[in-house]
Amino acid sequence: MKQRETFGSKLGIIMATAGSALGLGNIYRFPIEAGNNGGGAFLIVYLFVALLIGTPLMISEFIIGRRAKSNPVGAFRKLAGIRTAWPWVGWLGILCAFLILAFYTTVAGWTLGYLGKSVANHFAGQDITQIQHQFDTFVTHPWLPIVCQLAFLALTAIVVARGVKDGIERWSKILMPLLLVIMVILCVKSLSLNGAAEGIKFLFKPDFSKITGSVLLSALGQSFFSLSIGMGALITYGSYIARTDNMVSSAVSVVLADTFVAIMAGIIIFPAAFSFGIQPQAGSSLAFTTLPMIFQQMTGGYFFCLIFFLLLVIATLTSTISLLEVIVAALTEEFNFSRSKAAWAGAALTAVIGVIATLSFRTGSPLHIGGTIAFDLLDRVTSHYIMPIGGLLIVLFVGWRLKRADTLDELTNGGTLKSGIRQAILFIIRYLCPVAIAVIFVSQLLQ
Ligand code: PHE
Repeated sequence: MKQRETFGSKLGIIMATAGSALGLGNIYRFPIEAGNNGGGAFLIVYLFVALLIGTPLMISEFIIGRRAKSNPVGAFRKLAGIRTAWPWVGWLGILCAFLILAFYTTVAGWTLGYLGKSVANHFAGQDITQIQHQFDTFVTHPWLPIVCQLAFLALTAIVVARGVKDGIERWSKILMPLLLVIMVILCVKSLSLNGAAEGIKFLFKPDFSKITGSVLLSALGQSFFSLSIGMGALITYGSYIARTDNMVSSAVSVVLADTFVAIMAGIIIFPAAFSFGIQPQAGSSLAFTTLPMIFQQMTGGYFFCLIFFLLLVIATLTSTISLLEVIVAALTEEFNFSRSKAAWAGAALTAVIGVIATLSFRTGSPLHIGGTIAFDLLDRVTSHYIMPIGGLLIVLFVGWRLKRADTLDELTNGGTLKSGIRQAILFIIRYLCPVAIAVIFVSQLLQ
């Protein structure tokens, strides 16, 4: 039998998982969700949910993946048996990866387009109305965003076709730290703008009366989306974790890093948005109008803008890679596709739905369902429904279906790590996580 690939080092898993987690979810989607759900109120709930539900769920996915050494479908089949319904949880995850990749590559394509715009110096000397107009013209252009999206998908397929270690690990290790550096510089700049204090108040001063059922579900969905959990991406990455790696500390590091980057994105976007008169509820255009405005006001703005969009493209790429990897692992192991055939077939299939998502931004586009554009529908269905349900089933599986001894064996690396906190983690996985996810999800359904 072919030896299954594993990540080369402990830093490798952290970097690959962080590569999956860090991306548009932090820089584009977090500010949108915070902006739409009351700012500070959202942030507080988000922190609780990411740390208390997100971390144990991430660990649960690693446990399933490493124990089974298989794609999500194969993993549930191996651990639960063929005659159960559990492999359907794996299929649900693969469907989810498809749907996310479809709309994610819409925005990924925009980042590529914006990289082009920064090379061509399109933002220089423009005011906010012009920058806003550029965004609108770009996303509603009849073919440009589609070309960008398809190029992004092709880039993803090329990397994934080459394999886990060469492709994913190498990219993440070098470039993610660089993105952090540039974000710190942007924070400083944004905080120095006129009226920045309003934005900081918006993000950090919670108005507890704003916490409603829908804010809770949005925070849950955002944390699952941002941490890449609830749909099998990290089961797949978990399957490449070596037996000796400490997955608890890896998960904690990734959750902290991801949360830190999301908060930094907030510190960059909101002060600037308030300063330039951009509504926090602006939605999809929020990051794409605020950021060029900030660069424009910086000395060396051309240069920073270029580097930033380049790094954003790469951060996004390490996320699309992890999404396509879920599909590829399933196609190669369940249907015996070769790796490269699986990568291209997965990308092609994604392109079909993806183009619909991209086109749905055109004004008067028929791609609306009940007043919601196809893009928003894909976003909503995955983060508000599939990921919470998938996450619930995953913690139930690890907490109640896997043998307790096996779970502890994974958590302690066969008894070589201290088991005290690990017993506590198991307790959280068994009781706190399922109850919390179910309560948030059901209470929202009832509203
Ligand atoms: N977590 C990624 C981001 O924040 C998106 C993603 C979701 C990746 C689900 C993989 C799986 O950009």
